Amino acid sequence: MGHLNQETVVTRFGVNCDDNHGAVIPPLYLSSNFAFPKFAEKGKYDYTRSGNPTRDQLAGALAAAEGGTGAVITGSGMAAVHLATQLLQAGDVLIAPPDCYGGCHRLLSAAARKSQFEVQWVPLWETEAAVKQISTIKPRMVWIETPSNPLLRITDIEAIAEAAHAVGALVVVDNTFLSPAGQNPLALGADIVLHSTTKYINGHSDVVGGAVICSDAELLEELAWWGNCLGLTGSPFDSFQTLRGLRTLAVRYRQHQENALQVAQALHDNSLVGKVYFPGLKDHPGHEIAAKQQRGFGAMISFELAGSYSEIPVFLNALKLFTLAESLGGVESLVAHPATMTHAAMSAEDQATAGISSQLLRLSVGIEHVDDLLADLANGFAAVQQSRLESVPSAISVPRKVAC
Ligand SMILES: Cc1ncc(COP(=O)(O)O)c(C=O)c1O
Repeated sequence: MGHLNQETVVTRFGVNCDDNHGAVIPPLYLSSNFAFPKFAEKGKYDYTRSGNPTRDQLAGALAAAEGGTGAVITGSGMAAVHLATQLLQAGDVLIAPPDCYGGCHRLLSAAARKSQFEVQWVPLWETEAAVKQISTIKPRMVWIETPSNPLLRITDIEAIAEAAHAVGALVVVDNTFLSPAGQNPLALGADIVLHSTTKYINGHSDVVGGAVICSDAELLEELAWWGNCLGLTGSPFDSFQTLRGLRTLAVRYRQHQENALQVAQALHDNSLVGKVYFPGLKDHPGHEIAAKQQRGFGAMISFELAGSYSEIPVFLNALKLFTLAESLGGVESLVAHPATMTHAAMSAEDQATAGISSQLLRLSVGIEHVDDLLADLANGFAAVQQSRLESVPSAISVPRKVAC
């Protein structure tokens, strides 16, 4: 994404390409169907589920941003996940990390329960062990989410892709947490990259959408066929909005990342914080791989509030700028409690396996002024301190019973 030249941006992002009226921003084609020019001869488009000019414009732009041949735009990130799994059949093994996004975990587990394919959960961030397991298990597909949601674990895409290809497996990377501005998995050896475009790509928290992008034309054709067959494709209006968001992604992303670095450092230095999960910190186990395969470290941060579970609402209630909400990647800052929100679909046992504790909070750092964000978090920590003072019996309180 960072490497697109201006000409590519102009043609791919649809700017100034309207031949009818010279509209600088391309028109939105809401039409659900298109006229046949002649009997038994269809034009480029016939029905919007199978193809639509506005959606195609977004697909072209995202494919260019990820360095792929094309993309299928879906109605949600989960529709994109569902679409990618259509490449599997009964008996195939899918390797996925145990700490992937809760909704993905739910979909993959549910499909496995129906014997659509088998899932083996492998900690892909432990490269050496994962490479061995891939060569033993010989899966049909390896599913990578890096950085992972919510613990920001980093998987070495190149190493895992190499191991997967050696046994003939397809490699899918969920690139939602970084967007094409932060990482391009196809260039690192992945076969398919998918996004919840709901997040950074649209960036304004007003669209739910997804995309599956690949470099191989045959694979793309198969995915497009399934997208139409199952009715997974996204709406023209959502595509128009998402394309508008995509045009400002690089600039927004720069600010997200700048803010996140400062927020992560402040959390790291705070005695009320236990562990901070952010690949931009030098002590993060995935720091070096992240520095190698990403452009920057993203803007998602998780941390454990040191103390007790009862202090979580005390901290959250004191925040004004960080809204308690699911989702991520919008211009506004959000805070989530993964155990009861984004990852609530996982059983307590699966959460424990993934490392999601009840003290864990996840931040999506927005593009507000960083001083305001730091002040907001400081208010949250001050409220926790205050609640501790109030709950400790006063050292000078008069004893009720005085010994005589
Ligand atoms: C990493 C990841 N993948 C996929 C999804 C699903 O996307 P959507 O909510 O757009 O269906 C999410 C949603 O949070 C996500 O975080």
